[in-house]
Amino acid sequence: MDFKGDRVCALVSMFFVVTSANVEEVLGVVGEPVLLCCFLSKLALPINSAKTRIMWQDREDKVLHVINKGQEVYDYQDPYYKNRTTFDSDHLASGNLSLLLNPVNILDNHMRTTVILIRNHRSEKVCTLSLNVAARYQKPTVNLTDSTVECNTQGGFPEGQVTWMTNNTPLDPGEADTKTSQDPETRTFNISSRVNGTGIQNLTCSIHNPTLNETQTTTISIRPITPYMAENSSNVLVIACAVGVSFILTIITVIICRRIRVPCCP
Ligand SMILES: *[C@@H]1O[C@H](CO)[C@@H](O)[C@H](O)[C@H]1NC(C)=O
Ligand SMILES: *[C@@H]1O[C@H](CO)[C@@H](O)[C@H](O)[C@H]1NC(C)=O
Ligand SMILES: *[C@@H]1O[C@H](CO)[C@@H](O)[C@H](O)[C@H]1NC(C)=O
Ligand SMILES: *[C@@H]1O[C@H](CO)[C@@H](O)[C@H](O)[C@H]1NC(C)=O
Ligand SMILES: *[C@@H]1O[C@H](CO)[C@@H](O)[C@H](O)[C@H]1NC(C)=O
Ligand SMILES: *[C@@H]1O[C@H](CO)[C@@H](O)[C@H](O)[C@H]1NC(C)=O
Ligand SMILES: *[C@@H]1O[C@H](CO)[C@@H](O)[C@H](O)[C@H]1NC(C)=O
Repeated sequence: MDFKGDRVCALVSMFFVVTSANVEEVLGVVGEPVLLCCFLSKLALPINSAKTRIMWQDREDKVLHVINKGQEVYDYQDPYYKNRTTFDSDHLASGNLSLLLNPVNILDNHMRTTVILIRNHRSEKVCTLSLNVAARYQKPTVNLTDSTVECNTQGGFPEGQVTWMTNNTPLDPGEADTKTSQDPETRTFNISSRVNGTGIQNLTCSIHNPTLNETQTTTISIRPITPYMAENSSNVLVIACAVGVSFILTIITVIICRRIRVPCCP
């Protein structure tokens, strides 16, 4: 993946929400990198990296990453974060203490990272970030059996909401029979929803991911079922036509027979 730090940092800051004094919320997508943005104030600069230690740790004091005297130290890193963290020391001089976490896991949801700067025998909490994790739902598949329309999607997180629409009008949620199941291992959700499609032409099924504020939709056109009576009456019409045509042909034959005086009928 071509990781453009600046763009991601700018993108991430769009999702920053100040929750308490200075805990910032960051949005991460499962399987993708997330930049845990942290910047020292200008007043805290310059940094003498030879005399500085920087630690990123979570709420349970598990260590994500350590930089000591400008070098990475992996001795304290928790196995959970192994191979997932990258720090770019080139940005250290400017006070950029952003840590890249790649890839994001579902279990990282609500992970709180504290960035601690230790220098001159003093330790200082520089940033606290809280990670909200989401996984995209697949575009739903919509499936028609008899008159039941079924909508299915998999692999999303957190739990999504299903909406059914027909010609831009939402169906009453009570009309849908929706089942959600969570995979105990991956913790992602599968959603299956059914409605009665009788008398409906077009149906749209939408799955909304509240964390991503993203909606995936699929529309199907239900071929209007030919009413039984209409099919039957067209058969009657064909029979009536055939009977009519043969009746006319018989009359014509009889007339012709009489004209040429051939006794062709008993
Ligand atoms: C901060 O550092 C990260 C890499 O660790 C980089 O991707 C990002 O662009 C930097 N941000 C700024 C504003 O320099
Ligand atoms: C980290 O990466 C190394 C080398 O690519 C690999 O041998 C090791 O198993 C990985 N560790 C984890 C916990 O994924
Ligand atoms: C379509 O519906 C049938 C019956 O409900 C089901 O067995 C089948 O797996 C569904 N297909 C898809 C692609 O969801
Ligand atoms: C979710 O759907 C996938 C793909 O159809 C399936 O492999 C998995 O077992 C399902 N998980 C749950 C919890 O239903
Ligand atoms: C669907 O609705 C029609 C009437 O609108 C009803 O006759 C039919 O029994 C319903 N089918 C199911 C499977 O509920
Ligand atoms: C159903 O959808 C088709 C194509 O998307 C559209 O041409 C048609 O007008 C729609 N029918 C109704 C009743 O909205
Ligand atoms: C969600 O996205 C829609 C448009 O896609 C936007 O209008 C709405 O303001 C967004 N809501 C939030 C809470 O960001």
